[in-house]
Amino acid sequence: MDPAALLDAAEAARDHAYAPYSRFRVGAALLCDDGTIQPGCNLENASYGATICAERVAVGAAIAAGRRRFRAIAIAGPAGIALSPCGICRQVLSEFSPDGALRVVMRTADGSVRETRLAALLPDAFGPADLASAPASAHPPG
Ligand code: THU
Repeated sequence: MDPAALLDAAEAARDHAYAPYSRFRVGAALLCDDGTIQPGCNLENASYGATICAERVAVGAAIAAGRRRFRAIAIAGPAGIALSPCGICRQVLSEFSPDGALRVVMRTADGSVRETRLAALLPDAFGPADLASAPASAHPPG
């Protein structure tokens, strides 16, 4: 995985951002385990709460294309801003990287590449194992 190339793809996706309300344009590029790069951009709505971040647009598009295993994601916010994925996006990424091994690539404010892992951004993530481990009395029928 070439972090700079993945960031370039995220920056290209950012050009497609639909962000008329915040004017905060974001692109993401998700590297799938078959080598496919799935782009995403933020998608805002006049009903502001319906907004979807670039990272989740990329995940949704990859899932819809039949890809569920990801190696890395790059995120590109407005130039000069170091953008780390929001909490909801961390949770959504965690669903498909339960061990937190997903590599997360960003640019720092000074333009250099920062790479981390999802586990560092979302320690002690809630996941499917937590649902499975709850005693039946914790979720009675109805
Ligand atoms: N946004 C993203 O696309 N990704 C993030 O990680 C943070 C926020 C978008 C959502 C909204 O369209 C705009 O940035 C301002 O919050």
